[in-house]
Amino acid sequence: MAYSELNAPMRTIMTPGPVEVDPRVLRAMSTPILGQFDPAFTTIMNEVMEMLRLVFQTKNKWAFPIDGTSRSGNEAILCSIIEPGDKVLVPIFGRFGHLLVEICERYGAEVHTMECPWGEVFEPQAVIAEIKKVSPKITAIVHGETSTGCMQPLKEIGRACRELGVLLVVDAVASIGGTDVKVDEWCIDGLIGGTQKCLSVPSGMAPITYNERIEEIIQSRKKVERGIATDEDNQQISLSRPIASNYFDLSMLQDYWGPRRLNHHTEATSMIYALREGLRLVLEEGLETRFARHELHEAALVEGIKAMGLMLFGDGKNKLPCVTCIEIPKGIDGEAVRDMLLNEFGIEIASSFGPLHGKIWRIGTMGFSCRKENILFVLASLEAVLLRQGFQVNRGEALQAALDVYVGKKEKMVASQRSL
Ligand SMILES: Cc1ncc(COP(=O)(O)O)c(C=O)c1O
Repeated sequence: MAYSELNAPMRTIMTPGPVEVDPRVLRAMSTPILGQFDPAFTTIMNEVMEMLRLVFQTKNKWAFPIDGTSRSGNEAILCSIIEPGDKVLVPIFGRFGHLLVEICERYGAEVHTMECPWGEVFEPQAVIAEIKKVSPKITAIVHGETSTGCMQPLKEIGRACRELGVLLVVDAVASIGGTDVKVDEWCIDGLIGGTQKCLSVPSGMAPITYNERIEEIIQSRKKVERGIATDEDNQQISLSRPIASNYFDLSMLQDYWGPRRLNHHTEATSMIYALREGLRLVLEEGLETRFARHELHEAALVEGIKAMGLMLFGDGKNKLPCVTCIEIPKGIDGEAVRDMLLNEFGIEIASSFGPLHGKIWRIGTMGFSCRKENILFVLASLEAVLLRQGFQVNRGEALQAALDVYVGKKEKMVASQRSL
């Protein structure tokens, strides 16, 4: 046999996704396959919907995953509500704002954008003023921008959209499961989460939720596939404004995830098992405890990075807790550092995109990767690699600063007094 058995190396993954997966999720993925209409499987689907509502902090009826990577969720919601010529406002503060524009344009929207420098977010009032000026049908915005490590406050924008009759669609791919995302309280109409980030499930599903304002639009464009439609379906359904995509048509996906269980795609059963176990882990830990864990490890990482003598990128005021961006020091080859971390230590950190490529490193502290041993390991290894690359770090300071966060400064003082 020319090919050996699959033998992927063990890595410490400290990127903004995909991240390490809890062994319980990996075990769930090896559960035997069920037919997608087997009651044993439809029960699992219903449980996934219930758990998603809790994680999304919503009472929405509709909360289910799209089969595809995170952008499939963005595309499913946007293509199901956009009709050619609809106005969409997209405030852009990094790469994934541009992705929203790209998707909206492909479905024929008249897209209006506003931009702020990468590393900053918008004053909510500036976005609200633009919404009033443009009068869009939809405002689509990213919550946690992984390309810059910034997080956009949404509460005021959500309230304004509701008052003005504008739909708010949010990409919370990077933030869901790592920091607070309150779908109902923040008046978010449609929201997309990611699996491969703070939920720590492999890439390949995009959990979404949407409320009755979006459902109403979807129902008005409802379609049943020709090969499976009944006479009654054909009489009831108006085909004048169909959703342009078959795969992402939420009117058909609703019929599949809802009580009718009408066939659409063949469900990715192993991924549903993985998502179910990933969600169970989130709820078992508790949302508040999980968010606090992300903040603790972020604090240890940030203190360590600063103590080492490196500079953080961004104003810090609106930092995404699960992504820390670091300026690459002058004269240091950022890619050589990343290569050495991977090849000598088995650690992966990320570079960035567009205007930030080659200027910053990004370290993710997400889900199962967000653990004390990983933080201490990445700090120690980064210090060693930077020394080899000729950057004069403050030797030994990074780990001490991180340990100050974990075990506290008091214990350190007690120990040093004891040794006197
Ligand atoms: C904020 C955000 N949105 C969307 C995406 C797209 O996700 P995917 O690559 O899984 O399609 C990413 C991926 O990193 C992301 O960080």
